[in-house]
Amino acid sequence: MLLGSEQKLAAVNTDYFLDVDRVSHYYSRGFGFTQSLDDISFNLRSGEILSIVGSSGCGKSTLLRIVAGLIAPSEGKVSMEEQSPTRYRTETGIGFAFQKPVLFPWKTVLENILLPVEIRSGKVDNIERVRALSLLEMLGISGFEDSYPNQLSGGMLQRAAIARALMNQPNLLLLDEPFSALDEIIRENLWIDFSEVWRSQKLTVLLVTHSIREAVFLSDRVLVMSPRPGQVKAEFAIPLPQERTRAVTISKEFVELCEEVRGKLE
Ligand SMILES: Nc1ncnc2c1ncn2[C@@H]1O[C@H](COP(=O)(O)OP(=O)(O)O)[C@@H](O)[C@H]1O
Ligand SMILES: [Mg+2]
Repeated sequence: MLLGSEQKLAAVNTDYFLDVDRVSHYYSRGFGFTQSLDDISFNLRSGEILSIVGSSGCGKSTLLRIVAGLIAPSEGKVSMEEQSPTRYRTETGIGFAFQKPVLFPWKTVLENILLPVEIRSGKVDNIERVRALSLLEMLGISGFEDSYPNQLSGGMLQRAAIARALMNQPNLLLLDEPFSALDEIIRENLWIDFSEVWRSQKLTVLLVTHSIREAVFLSDRVLVMSPRPGQVKAEFAIPLPQERTRAVTISKEFVELCEEVRGKLE
């Protein structure tokens, strides 16, 4: 459902968790610069799953890194519960997972997942260990805690990477094309499993992807970005059932929503 400006305006008064306000960004290049983002504004409510879909090179990773406070916007402002991303990242926690799961090859899956705790508090107690094991179970890889990353398939590695991103109980989960390196069947299995975890845990998730089906399947709302410099071209509410099963992917409603989103992508 394409949201018109009136509906968007009506939403302005709601309490938002994340506020991205008129963000532009330029990379310096030789004596000149490349504009990656152009006047991007959007909001995210607590417990909402928002996807941003756009073609390769349109500035998705740059935008996510700005939201994470890893790079600064050239213009505009990002705030989370009235705080800057840098402050928020250190104090309350933002979980981040990338296209390629980055796990240390010399550590077991369990040790990798416990790493954020070890970094934060210098030690790992039994409660954290039990929590890590229950995260592994929730994400469908229990029994592999003592395996090393090279013993796991791509899909399992991505499950482990998401478990690690959730270990510090972040208030915001940022995902940069986490499924794009996986083949189709594994990817769709992960959508279904992750969707259940995110929704049951009421996680606040911001996902960037170039896959229209992925964005529509996983989200409550989808923003469409233009090619570089990225601008927000359209916004869609996704009124699919809360429980996102395989049946959803073949429903008429899902297919029509994907077509609507595709119509706004350049
Ligand atoms: N470190 C960098 N220096 C200069 N240009 C960059 C840098 N990183 C990305 N870019 C350029 O900025 C644009 C957006 O990049 P990126 O955010 O990675 O896009 P996406 O994630 O959508 O593929 C691209 O055209 C890319 O070439
Ligand atoms: Mg990218």
